[in-house]
Amino acid sequence: MFPYLLLCGFLLGHTLTAVVATSNSDEQALYESYSHMITNIKSAMLDSMRASWEQGTALGSIIELSYPQYSVFGDTPFISTGAIPISALHLALSAVVRQSSDGRLSQVIGDALDGAALDGASAGSGVLLGSFTDPLRSAYWANASKAQLDFLLYKAPRTSTGAISHRIDSKQYWADGVYMGPPFIAYYGAVTQNQTLLQLAYDNCRLYRDALLVPGPTGNLWAHIYSDDNKTFFDEGIWGTEILDGEFAALTPQNLVPDYLTGGSPFGDASSSAALSSVAYRASTLFPDHFPSNYTDVAARIRDAVIGGVDELGVLSPVVDPLSFGVVGVLSTEGQAFAGMMFSAWRDWICWD
Ligand SMILES: *[C@@H]1O[C@H](CO)[C@@H](O)[C@H](O)[C@H]1NC(C)=O
Ligand SMILES: *[C@@H]1O[C@H](CO)[C@@H](O)[C@H](O)[C@H]1NC(C)=O
Ligand SMILES: *[C@@H]1O[C@H](CO)[C@@H](O)[C@H](O)[C@H]1NC(C)=O
Ligand SMILES: *[C@@H]1O[C@H](CO)[C@@H](O)[C@H](O)[C@H]1NC(C)=O
Repeated sequence: MFPYLLLCGFLLGHTLTAVVATSNSDEQALYESYSHMITNIKSAMLDSMRASWEQGTALGSIIELSYPQYSVFGDTPFISTGAIPISALHLALSAVVRQSSDGRLSQVIGDALDGAALDGASAGSGVLLGSFTDPLRSAYWANASKAQLDFLLYKAPRTSTGAISHRIDSKQYWADGVYMGPPFIAYYGAVTQNQTLLQLAYDNCRLYRDALLVPGPTGNLWAHIYSDDNKTFFDEGIWGTEILDGEFAALTPQNLVPDYLTGGSPFGDASSSAALSSVAYRASTLFPDHFPSNYTDVAARIRDAVIGGVDELGVLSPVVDPLSFGVVGVLSTEGQAFAGMMFSAWRDWICWD
């Protein structure tokens, strides 16, 4: 029982009854056997150079792994428990220090700003988290997150349907965009109790879905990039996205999600695999009736395949090169972050099960 207390006690904050009632001690022991690996995976992520989307994804991963009470999957995501999420705020602080004058976070790196309109916003939730967990810098955090929100609301280009474009110099929908922009808008709406913002976040996911959904070989799936300027798919390949049924039906013999299902390289990609495994565990924890054990069974197979590819440095492989979508890369900082999310989603599923 003691390991369970260590693993789940801080999450549940519940009574010993809940602890004793659990029947999944094998899963807990298995999770704990990976604690050294998780440390290395996290370290490879934090020690990487990071572009805007990697900074935000790393920040999201640290919140889920190390400060689960402040994760949107936790008990009190929108109010302070009195604890300062220090490592998360380290990442957020760097994102603000590198905020561009137009409001986008994590931009001033090297010579150029992002071509992306949405990627900087991926650090936005962590920055806003600072506004109510770090009293000393409260105004600083609030100001920076407001500037990032205002960029999305008033400065980023809009597509013909009113969606916020993923790109700054053209109007494009990218599947990746739904992780980068809408979650921050929704979180801002939740923290400030502003329903208009929650609706806007939902509408952007809906409009991206409308633009990107295509019939795939295993059901409806999302294509990667659609240009609203010339109404053509710039990358029609079905990329690893969050569509569980279609993706889970298409696993490689190694139990990984292919980089592209169609229109691109089909190698198993540990990065999107870890992301989708985490989504299945989260979905099953939140909506167990809709996502029963056939989802978590696949999530566990994928998880084991991802773990099987982690090397002595804690680095995942094979992973898609973050700068060249169809090629296997050496290090994906985003993939390292997704692995952290996979472990934390698995842990939270064990603890609530
Ligand atoms: C608020 O943000 C703006 C623009 O991002 C910046 O110019 C200003 O100095 C900030 N103010 C504070 C109090 O941090
Ligand atoms: C909600 O947020 C939007 C965008 O910042 C703002 O224009 C509006 O006044 C807010 N509504 C409320 C009720 O605070
Ligand atoms: C459509 O526009 C995008 C930019 O939004 C461009 O990259 C792409 O090459 C264009 N495709 C065609 C067929 O013109
Ligand atoms: C799980 O089972 C349900 C109900 O039979 C089915 O609709 C769904 O496609 C299955 N999903 C997976 C990933 O096996």
